Amino acid sequence: MKLDNSVAAVVTGGASGLGAATARALAAKGVKVAIFDLQKEKGEAVAAEIGGVFCEVNVTSDESVDAGFAKARAAHGQERVLVNCAGTGNAVKTASRAKEDGSIRHFPLEAFNWVIQINLVGTFRCIAKSAAGMLTLDPQEDGERGAIVNTASVAAEDGQIGQAAYSASKGGVVGMTLPIARDLMGEGIRVNTILPGIFDTPLLAAAPQPVKDALAASVPFPKRLGRPEEYAGLALCMIETGYFNGEDVRLDGGIRMAPR
Ligand SMILES: NC(=O)c1ccc[n+]([C@@H]2O[C@H](COP(=O)([O-])OP(=O)(O)OC[C@H]3O[C@@H](n4cnc5c(N)ncnc54)[C@H](O)[C@@H]3O)[C@@H](O)[C@H]2O)c1
Repeated sequence: MKLDNSVAAVVTGGASGLGAATARALAAKGVKVAIFDLQKEKGEAVAAEIGGVFCEVNVTSDESVDAGFAKARAAHGQERVLVNCAGTGNAVKTASRAKEDGSIRHFPLEAFNWVIQINLVGTFRCIAKSAAGMLTLDPQEDGERGAIVNTASVAAEDGQIGQAAYSASKGGVVGMTLPIARDLMGEGIRVNTILPGIFDTPLLAAAPQPVKDALAASVPFPKRLGRPEEYAGLALCMIETGYFNGEDVRLDGGIRMAPR
């Protein structure tokens, strides 16, 4: 797909981290970018910086996502590109014994469901509603109507202790990539997913420097955290390369996560 100012894009989670880097990279190509995010102040700041539009959206809500697409399309027209970066995680063992008093507890189901609703169902909600809109577009010369990029995680394949919900949600994103690409192949819409390793984003900002250093040292090569621009580079490659379809790609410096 040729990216220029005739193309509109929606980036979920675009207020921060990997999504913000992708919104900037798309805008640098002239693309009109709408940011869907819960974080109003940060989202508005990124939108102002790139000449885009911010839509306060919660990807777990049908009404909120519908209102976001209505606002984005009123400003820029129907999007040809969707990048799903909105996501979250938690760390709870499936069942465990408290160190202090030996009491036994299990992963609260509402906490498990919360992660699934945002990372998996929220991603699918945005894909389904965006793809339905893309079907109204005239195809470009190569028959292409749209391109979608999702964000899973290496935790989809090597989840760590406490990551049952996160890994299930990201494994779901990986698992649905090919069938969605097949659902949409007759309409000229491509779908791909990135599995990031450990990236230097606000998600990790709370971690103390020694923890970040240890994480960086655990990467085979290069021995550092991933840069959000590197994620954005792969996202744009997937969008621009017409033969890229139905694929799940790790972007991780060769890391395979240990149990903890
Ligand atoms: N940073 C990493 O190392 C890493 C590794 C693997 C996967 N990922 C995935 O990449 C994606 C982006 O992560 P990031 O590191 O940029 O984190 P981030 O926290 O910087 O960005 C995530 C954004 O998603 C938004 N968001 C969360 N819940 C939302 C909801 N319900 N509706 C709308 N927006 C919502 C947040 O407000 C935030 O702006 C996530 O899906 C994350 O799981 C990140």
